[in-house]
Amino acid sequence: MRLEKKSPCKVNLLLNILGKRADGFHELETVMQPVNFCDELSFERGGNGIQLSCSDKSLPVNSKNLVFRAAENFLAAAKISDGLKIHLEKKIPLAAGLGGGSGNAATTLLGMNEIFGWPLPIKALENIAESLGSDIPFFLQNKPALATGRGEKIQPLENFPALDGKAFLLIHPGFGISTPWAYQNLSRFPEALNGKKGRAQELVQKLQTDDWPAIADGFYNSLETPALEKFPILQLFQEFLRDNGALAAIMSGSGSTTFAICKNISSAESLGEKFKSKFGQNCWTAVVAV
Ligand code: C5P
Repeated sequence: MRLEKKSPCKVNLLLNILGKRADGFHELETVMQPVNFCDELSFERGGNGIQLSCSDKSLPVNSKNLVFRAAENFLAAAKISDGLKIHLEKKIPLAAGLGGGSGNAATTLLGMNEIFGWPLPIKALENIAESLGSDIPFFLQNKPALATGRGEKIQPLENFPALDGKAFLLIHPGFGISTPWAYQNLSRFPEALNGKKGRAQELVQKLQTDDWPAIADGFYNSLETPALEKFPILQLFQEFLRDNGALAAIMSGSGSTTFAICKNISSAESLGEKFKSKFGQNCWTAVVAV
């Protein structure tokens, strides 16, 4: 039996860091939005142990890979000793702030539960997800969400009316940003490190309306402060996108992806073309309907 599953990504419409915790993680509030741009995972029962393969040869296929760790944890929790082959077809850029690896881990948990006949309840999958990474529980439910704690406490939300019919233009600059680097460098910017609580709820309220100037004003990402200082080109991207018709433009997660929200698919496509003629062809871009 073989099972194929899409593994989508996300953007953070807001990522407000509230302070550093005693355990080294950062307390935060974030508004997360699923994006239907996907890696592909396939699962096949058989063989011995976990055999992972990946289209991107720069990724490890052992326990350094989140997919492998998710599979290991799943088999241990479900007390299953059967073998499994997993193939990961990578399309989402790496170290991009799009949650690609986190989504892969969550999709692995969901796929394995399906291929082995649902041995684990969702709560057990959530426990594994949370132990593997802060963003992973979000991808188990894959709906818009307000997340708190270190990002693992998920409050699912209905689709935001403001995003109805809109499109994302995703732009990856051709270099990645390491998440631990972004968090560590926040310590140099006390204001960004200690954000005011409540911004996420305010943005969620605004997203119920169609008042785009107010909504765009509510988009915020604390991790932009270190990222844009080190990579000023990302600031130029945002200015260009806003000056050329984007409703909003901001960095996602710990970067390096910038995303713009556009009125519809065709305006996102023409903005993407304009962007490429201005900033060259080294950037990876994708247009995705909300
Ligand atoms: O949880 P995850 O493995 O995705 O986190 C990667 C790194 O990002 C952590 O090791 C930590 O350095 C940083 N991080 C943080 N606070 C968070 C989430 C991540 O400091 N809320």
